[in-house]
Amino acid sequence: MNNANPINISHIDHVDPGGTRERVRTAIITGSSRGIGAAVVRLLGESGYQVCVNYRSNKSAAIKVVADLEKLGANTIAIQADVSDEADVVRLFKTVDKELGELTALVNNAAIVLPQTRVENMDAARINRMLATNVTSSFLCCREAVRRMSYKHGGNGGSIVNVSSAAARIGSAGEYVDYAASKGAIDTLTRGLALEVADEGIRVNCVRPGFIHTDMHADGGEPSRVDRLAETIPLGRGGTPEEVANAIRWLLSEEASYATGSFIDLAGGR
Ligand SMILES: NC(=O)c1ccc[n+]([C@@H]2O[C@H](COP(=O)([O-])OP(=O)(O)OC[C@H]3O[C@@H](n4cnc5c(N)ncnc54)[C@H](OP(=O)(O)O)[C@@H]3O)[C@@H](O)[C@H]2O)c1
Repeated sequence: MNNANPINISHIDHVDPGGTRERVRTAIITGSSRGIGAAVVRLLGESGYQVCVNYRSNKSAAIKVVADLEKLGANTIAIQADVSDEADVVRLFKTVDKELGELTALVNNAAIVLPQTRVENMDAARINRMLATNVTSSFLCCREAVRRMSYKHGGNGGSIVNVSSAAARIGSAGEYVDYAASKGAIDTLTRGLALEVADEGIRVNCVRPGFIHTDMHADGGEPSRVDRLAETIPLGRGGTPEEVANAIRWLLSEEASYATGSFIDLAGGR
């Protein structure tokens, strides 16, 4: 796989299996080489979507996700793009236009945490990196999706799901308030954009996962964070990427046709 070019494993188009819709469903899932994003890709592939796997640097993980999709016969491409970079985002969407065709779904999933610390220790470089990766990226991807999906721009509608976090409610004191604040911004983006495009054929919704078993916690410096916090979670355990992916799939689907500006909390009751 070349970083500059997408890999395209198969070219089998999948239409809605029930035959109720004629549009081929095509989704971009940002940050889908690992964790929750990879689980979303797998579920959407199983559901007949064409999918674009996006990753920042872990090419081998992206190749593995694409290989899994190949087994399902799903039409899949993987594109390296740093979604905090505007030129990369534009290239990502243009490549999907060319390789997969009309975009019908976007999942803004890519995000980072940085090593746990208190606000008094954060410098501007850290804060700006956090906001560029977790917030600017989602604005840019929403912009590109709206330009393609909105009736106002000649599009045929679509669905966007943003991945926020329970941290937006909890605040992540002593761990990463910068991350929690970035997710607060995602909640506001969800509500505002949902209202902005409600009569243009686009639904915008959000999931707020809590404590999910992924690699992300190692990036914060505490790989076993979810296990440490398990006793504070009413359901008594961390969640799985698949438990979050199921909610995202539902929000994207026609089954959620009356939901926009909505939030699903997936935090085991916390
Ligand atoms: N895990 C949790 O407990 C939890 C809880 C609440 C919310 N969430 C949210 O759920 C989402 C997914 O989290 P996760 O735990 O699955 O994360 P993860 O396992 O750390 O995976 C992060 C993914 O994002 C990609 N990525 C990171 N920065 C990127 C960038 N600048 N451009 C493009 N891709 C980028 C990574 O690509 P590479 O593989 O190339 O590095 C990877 O595919 C995030 O929005 C996160 O905030 C997670």
